[in-house]
Amino acid sequence: MFSPPLFVVLALGRIVAGAATTSFKQCVELNVSVPVVATNHFFIQPRVDSTIDAVDWQQNTTTWSTPSAKDRIISENHINQNFSIHAQLCIPSQKGLKAGILQLATHGLGFDKRYWDVQVQPEEYSYLDATIRAGYSFLSYDRLGTGLSEKPNAYDTVQLPTEIEILAGLTKLARSGQLISASTILSTTDVSNETDILNFKPTKTVHVGHAFGSYLMTLMLGRPGYGQLSDGALMTGLLFNTYLNVLDVKSFNHEFAKEYDPVLFANYTSGYFVLGSKTDLQKLFLRKTNFDPALLTYLNEIKQPETVGEYASESTTDVLPANDFKAPILFFAGEFDWFLCLGNCTGTYNEAMTRQVFPNAIDPTPYLQPNTGHANTLSLNASAGYQVMYNYLGNHGL
Ligand SMILES: *[C@@H]1O[C@H](CO)[C@@H](O)[C@H](O)[C@H]1NC(C)=O
Ligand SMILES: *[C@@H]1O[C@H](CO)[C@@H](O)[C@H](O)[C@H]1NC(C)=O
Ligand SMILES: *[C@@H]1O[C@H](CO)[C@@H](O)[C@H](O)[C@H]1NC(C)=O
Ligand SMILES: *[C@@H]1O[C@H](CO)[C@@H](O)[C@H](O)[C@H]1NC(C)=O
Ligand SMILES: *[C@@H]1O[C@H](CO)[C@@H](O)[C@H](O)[C@H]1NC(C)=O
Ligand SMILES: *[C@@H]1O[C@H](CO)[C@@H](O)[C@H](O)[C@H]1NC(C)=O
Ligand SMILES: *[C@@H]1O[C@H](CO)[C@@H](O)[C@H](O)[C@H]1NC(C)=O
Repeated sequence: MFSPPLFVVLALGRIVAGAATTSFKQCVELNVSVPVVATNHFFIQPRVDSTIDAVDWQQNTTTWSTPSAKDRIISENHINQNFSIHAQLCIPSQKGLKAGILQLATHGLGFDKRYWDVQVQPEEYSYLDATIRAGYSFLSYDRLGTGLSEKPNAYDTVQLPTEIEILAGLTKLARSGQLISASTILSTTDVSNETDILNFKPTKTVHVGHAFGSYLMTLMLGRPGYGQLSDGALMTGLLFNTYLNVLDVKSFNHEFAKEYDPVLFANYTSGYFVLGSKTDLQKLFLRKTNFDPALLTYLNEIKQPETVGEYASESTTDVLPANDFKAPILFFAGEFDWFLCLGNCTGTYNEAMTRQVFPNAIDPTPYLQPNTGHANTLSLNASAGYQVMYNYLGNHGL
């Protein structure tokens, strides 16, 4: 009997499987041009061009007699330019009732958008996949200076005022249905008919953030005119509590990115640094009894640099009350988040502080995910936590 060589069978198998499988999601990868007008600052601070400099920078900026960042401002730095931001838009292949609700995700420091799409056991950890399966559409992006987005000057350009405007700018583009026209399409995945995804215009936009990303959302929602840009907020890795800011840059060691890995971080210039050790990553993001060591290894592989300018501008960018934000907001924190609550978030939520920042929010609710540390998408039982977030939205018509 004739039997075809094995490689033919395998190749045919792949083609047939490919044709028969319809993915549950369709995605486009975009290079978005985001217009930004923002007021950054020039600061007096040491330069970081080596790992020796990175340690010196840490000591210098945290020495008790060093003036605060506000007192180290030299002058304003007016930003008026378009930034290239790498983003990915995904919609469910089977459109349900929630497909018009867009979740727009901002990752935290030390990551890029892969934080939302963990590739170790994605069926358990990928927030992107879970969100699409729950029926929503999803837009994630690499913050300025991370991933495949533009990596401009780490001192004067990659600062919070600019990042706030990038988030607001992306939100405006998405809400008005102009995201695609402001972008170059880099690739598409499982898109058989481009009509739906290229014309996607959300009916509602829910912002989801992690840690520094949630903080950027908080800042954005408090800027005049921006509170209305959101129909709901999922603040993960953020909880207003008395231990916030107890741990800071003194607690973790950074290395100059390009020295740490000259190949991987070839495009990161002066002023970009990265958490060097797995022990620091574990301390900051994870919690024993509740992580798979494979995820620590993965985290170490996908980690991303941060900038000197982000640290300098953190304390010079004021949180303003988000008077115009009149939507539901969930604070989703790990029960044992070391960074956020000094290791135990139970009983630490400060409602008065929350109300000061979000005076008109609907049903501000804290939720502590059991046994979890700072990075909830990289912790065991992640997907059960995602259901809590979707249920909260569902209870508010989202
Ligand atoms: C994105 O577009 C800009 C021009 O707008 C270009 O300079 C940059 O190389 C592009 N980035 C990618 C990843 O294609
Ligand atoms: C910190 O660095 C600045 C700028 O290089 C320098 O002027 C200052 O003396 C340094 N302070 C300390 C405490 O090292
Ligand atoms: C940003 O891009 C838009 C559209 O291409 C262009 O009209 C505008 O002049 C650019 N802005 C700056 C500051 O370059
Ligand atoms: C693509 O989808 C659109 C909207 O769902 C539909 O109107 C159009 O006929 C489809 N095109 C093809 C080639 O199937
Ligand atoms: C560095 O940037 C170049 C030009 O944009 C790009 O082709 C290359 O892939 C980047 N290298 C890395 C390691 O990301
Ligand atoms: C966390 O704090 C709560 C409230 O004080 C306490 O009941 C609980 O035992 C603490 N958990 C741990 C692991 O220390
Ligand atoms: C997993 O998470 C869900 C949702 O927060 C929670 O109800 C459940 O108790 C968690 N399970 C464990 C074993 O921590």
